[in-house]
Amino acid sequence: MALIEINKLVAGYGDNAPILQDVDMVLEEGDIGVIVGPNGAGKSTLLKSIFSLLNIHSGQIKLNGADVVGLRADQLVENGLAFVPQEFNVFQSMSVEENLEMGAFTLRHGMKEKIEKVYTYFPPLKEKRKQPAGELSGGQRQMVAMGRALMAGPKILLLDEPTAGLSPLFMEKIFERIIAVNKAGVTVLMVEQHAKQALGIADKGFVLVTGRNAYTDTGEALLNNKEVAKAFLGG
Ligand SMILES: Nc1ncnc2c1ncn2[C@@H]1O[C@H](COP(=O)(O)OP(=O)(O)O)[C@@H](O)[C@H]1O
Ligand SMILES: [Mg+2]
Repeated sequence: MALIEINKLVAGYGDNAPILQDVDMVLEEGDIGVIVGPNGAGKSTLLKSIFSLLNIHSGQIKLNGADVVGLRADQLVENGLAFVPQEFNVFQSMSVEENLEMGAFTLRHGMKEKIEKVYTYFPPLKEKRKQPAGELSGGQRQMVAMGRALMAGPKILLLDEPTAGLSPLFMEKIFERIIAVNKAGVTVLMVEQHAKQALGIADKGFVLVTGRNAYTDTGEALLNNKEVAKAFLGG
């Protein structure tokens, strides 16, 4: 059974005309899924819809076979979902470690172990644990945001443009860390502007255009698809 299965999803902002039109998506456990497409295509809208932050007009979102449309975001977290939005995803004035604690603030015990586990994914954070997150580099802040999401022990991590604004070197580092998290058993669904590089690490790739599926295939097949390369990957 698929871990995530989205069928004919129509969703958008309040009573406005929906942005997503009949979007389909399937991810198996252990996949890295990558969503690419032009600005305004609805990529962020799709992640927000999965996390129950928007109005679902019709269609299904299934986790492990169970339709979760209508559940609240906190209930989805209990069902193993975690979401790192593109912006405002860390508490700037709080230390790295306090940010991580916020990711599991209802935890009664085991906080130390969880934090140590996060440091194994993101070693630079351990040295900076007492430092305010706002003083870190962009790449390290992104690690804090992902670390905080991982504190809840998710099965599925939704990431919106984790490498936005980062240098190519930091982009590589973030992708490396995402692969490590995935290897540890977390299924990943991420939106990326660095389409070529991201499809290079994707099991499944989805090209969204004006709220619809334009192309769906393995990451490798999309990279080798001439139409896709020409229109969306810079030739
Ligand atoms: N908060 C919002 N309220 C109304 N419309 C929005 C909102 N955020 C985004 N949109 C619209 O939804 C469409 C898709 O946006 P988005 O999902 O952010 O695109 P992408 O992430 O692919 O660049 C755009 O037309 C955008 O104007
Ligand atoms: Mg976006």
